[in-house]
Amino acid sequence: MLTAGDFLQHAPSVQKEIRKLNSKSETYSIETINESIYDHPKYYDLVFGADCAAEIKFILGCGKEYMQRPAKNFFEPACGTGRLLYSLAKRGHEVGGLDLNPKAVDFCNARFERHGIDAEAFIADMSDFRVPHRYDIAFNTINSFRHLQTEKAARAHLACMGQAIRVGGLYLLGVHLTPTEVAPSETESWSARRGHLSINTHMWTKERKKGSRIERFGIQFDIHNPTRSFRILDELVLRSYRPKQMDRLIASSGCWESVATYNFSYDLDDPIEVDAATEDVVYVLRRTRA
Ligand SMILES: C[S@@+](CC[C@H](N)C(=O)[O-])C[C@H]1O[C@@H](n2cnc3c(N)ncnc32)[C@H](O)[C@@H]1O
Repeated sequence: MLTAGDFLQHAPSVQKEIRKLNSKSETYSIETINESIYDHPKYYDLVFGADCAAEIKFILGCGKEYMQRPAKNFFEPACGTGRLLYSLAKRGHEVGGLDLNPKAVDFCNARFERHGIDAEAFIADMSDFRVPHRYDIAFNTINSFRHLQTEKAARAHLACMGQAIRVGGLYLLGVHLTPTEVAPSETESWSARRGHLSINTHMWTKERKKGSRIERFGIQFDIHNPTRSFRILDELVLRSYRPKQMDRLIASSGCWESVATYNFSYDLDDPIEVDAATEDVVYVLRRTRA
């Protein structure tokens, strides 16, 4: 079983670093903490939770488009802080979720409780779990699936999801594929702000070993509030998928068929064909009779 420590293979430490931070080569000193970004749900939620609207519209729209009867309940493996579950629950939907990180699950459940939402996320590995009843739609939109580092774990995940979703229900699986025809993107930066708190995030490829499907990415959150500026520095270890590897995995599950594919703009009017240059894909998987 994977643990949160598998994603972050360095001991927590605090250090002062001087780094070149922007194109103007401006340097400044910033306190740096080597910890998992998933152990900081408050910051994670601000960075990733700022805008859920497109994802929620897409999830609900897929139910209407690809299911025979209305979707009533929703499940998210690797739900993190539950930003999407909370958004759906606020709209009156029944939700459930799981995550490996206890701090993320606590954050998620505390928010449910604060808002009087009758739902609970639980701590589990997404490749080894059972739910007490079946759900209509599951979703896993931003690459969390790639945290599973072996084919065995990926297959076990699809099998668990097959047990969690009723026949005819959907699993919306968002994955950043490795393109075979063009060079993959190597860096990504974005920012988020709430009141006096602002976070600049940067992610970059550290290692893409030839012949290995394990990739290492650096990720940092630069956090600024009126009393303190500091950086959380982490490493994410993700398994890569080429389009054909993903197709083979889905086919091998024996209980999922891919009925459509979209990109991360989540535009239901604009499905895509996955080809050798495609990177961001959301697979709309339908639960078949096993
Ligand atoms: C990129 S975050 C996504 C969180 C959430 N799905 C969202 O959209 O905001 C990835 C999450 O996957 C969780 N995770 C990683 N490996 C896992 C595993 N084997 N089982 C369950 N959760 C896992 C991490 O703890 C983290 O919360």
